[in-house]
Amino acid sequence: MGMGKNRTATGLVLSWVITVICLAFGPAVSAEDLLQKSARINEGCLRCHGARGLKTKFDGKTVSLYVDEAGYRASMHGTMPCTYCHTNITDYPHTGALTGKDLVKQVNGECRRCHKDITTMYNQSVHGKVNRKEGKLNAYCSDCHGIHNIYKKEVAAATISHNNVPHTCAKCHNEIMKKYELDFHAKSVLLGGKEAASCVSCHGSHTILGPEEKTSTVSKENIPKTCGKCHLFPLKNFAKGKMHYELKPAGDGAVSFWTLIFFTWLTIGTITFVLVLILIELRRKWIDAGRPESRF
Ligand code: HEC
Ligand code: HEC
Ligand code: HEC
Ligand code: HEC
Ligand code: HEC
Ligand code: HEC
Ligand code: HEC
Repeated sequence: MGMGKNRTATGLVLSWVITVICLAFGPAVSAEDLLQKSARINEGCLRCHGARGLKTKFDGKTVSLYVDEAGYRASMHGTMPCTYCHTNITDYPHTGALTGKDLVKQVNGECRRCHKDITTMYNQSVHGKVNRKEGKLNAYCSDCHGIHNIYKKEVAAATISHNNVPHTCAKCHNEIMKKYELDFHAKSVLLGGKEAASCVSCHGSHTILGPEEKTSTVSKENIPKTCGKCHLFPLKNFAKGKMHYELKPAGDGAVSFWTLIFFTWLTIGTITFVLVLILIELRRKWIDAGRPESRF
């Protein structure tokens, strides 16, 4: 058992080293060959990383090193060599391998290198700013897009598809998510609806700023325009209300809270009243039934 395992591991390393040597010293090639080269590199990486059980210990935590091959191949980067994002992996054992925060930082630098237009916008947004307390950006590309499962927004499984966006944002904005769940838009979006507003319908994606910034899509000035993408009703007044609130007796949700209480008790009261009427009616019938002239 142990012997067999060792031999496989040695075999893997050998075949991988040979592949890398062949690729490094191979002649310059066409687009078609480039695809093949990419396929060969990825095949090498996936020989180890395609195994579900591959794990490592890092900072006392067990980290899975498994990459779902089918999911990766179907993703937007499925024909790209792993090494385009993992630029510092050039050999095995991986002497240059990064872990934890450093790995996340390095790879997200590669996203920005290739997607320059998006990066220009993102740098101005709240998520592109450094969070000094944690010594990292507020939200990395991969926090919203995923890692080896990056798809276009039209793909239902994408972390950024219309119906998945609230769950993606909720990883960090859980309190807002709880409020959003009370919203009429959420009632539709969380059940798979395509028309109602998801987080990005109102906030945008790479230009997100807080409500106090003038240029934000949710600043007092811009709310009418933002809602107006989908609504025709008098929009001025909507800028005055709060979008995210809790159902509590005081604060932004007070009106909705007391309206709910009022209608709940109105419903209970009405039903009780009707039940009492029925009981009085039944009692009358019972007494009448006891009288001889009512028998027929
Ligand atoms: C022979 C098996 C094997 C091959 C081939 C292999 N890896 Fe690894 N990889 C590992 C192991 C084991 C680790 C655990 C850490 C270590 O030993 O460096 C690892 C760690 C990593 C890590 C760091 C993860 C972390 O948080 O520690 C990345 C990224 C990675 N590999 C990417 C790749 C890429 C990209 C390729 C192909 C170019 C590749 N690996 C080829 C076995 C392999
Ligand atoms: C589009 C960029 C991109 C490509 C292409 C890519 N990766 Fe990654 N990979 C990442 C990011 C980002 C992380 C860091 C994830 C984290 O911990 O947040 C990562 C992490 C890893 C890890 C560490 C374990 C983990 O999931 O955190 C391994 C192992 C790994 N990648 C292997 C591969 C292999 C093998 C391929 C090719 C089949 C590949 N990667 C292709 C972006 C990429
Ligand atoms: C080596 C260059 C490169 C790197 C690195 C890279 N990408 Fe890409 N990305 C591409 C290419 C090329 C496409 C395909 C473009 C197309 O066909 O429209 C793409 C497609 C995408 C798409 C889908 C675009 C669409 O049209 O909907 C997203 C989202 C994306 N990448 C995000 C990321 C993220 C996040 C990272 C980092 C984890 C990353 N990319 C790293 C080159 C790169
Ligand atoms: C706060 C979450 C979030 C972050 C952070 C983020 N994105 Fe996006 N990204 C989205 C959403 C949501 C969409 C879909 C756009 C839509 O629905 O209009 C998107 C779309 C894209 C697209 C497809 C093209 C397009 O314009 O629609 C690319 C490429 C992309 N993002 C790359 C990146 C890169 C690179 C980074 C990091 C510099 C990044 N994203 C950071 C949420 C995010
Ligand atoms: C129908 C439009 C709309 C939708 C959908 C929406 N928001 Fe908002 N959001 C707003 C407006 C308007 C504000 C400005 C403050 C207010 O009115 O509550 C805001 C404020 C915020 C704030 C900052 C202020 C605060 O209350 O902390 C965050 C964070 C936020 N939204 C995140 C989200 C997330 C996450 C989602 C999805 C789960 C989401 N929003 C869905 C319109 C929307
Ligand atoms: C990785 C965590 C993370 C993810 C994912 C994330 N955010 Fe954020 N977001 C933050 C942090 C951190 C801040 C800055 C601190 C703060 O003000 O809450 C922030 C700030 C904001 C603000 C401004 C809040 C204010 O009061 O100024 C809005 C609006 C917002 N995010 C919306 C979204 C939306 C919409 C999504 C999903 C498309 C999203 N965020 C995804 C971490 C995240
Ligand atoms: C992406 C399109 C879209 C955006 C942007 C949008 N809404 Fe809506 N909204 C809808 C749809 C669709 C419904 C109907 C939802 C349902 O009940 O299924 C709706 C329902 C509502 C309702 C319930 C009453 C009614 O007409 O059914 C209110 C109130 C509302 N939206 C307010 C807002 C406000 C305020 C904003 C801006 C901060 C906004 N909406 C932005 C699509 C949108």
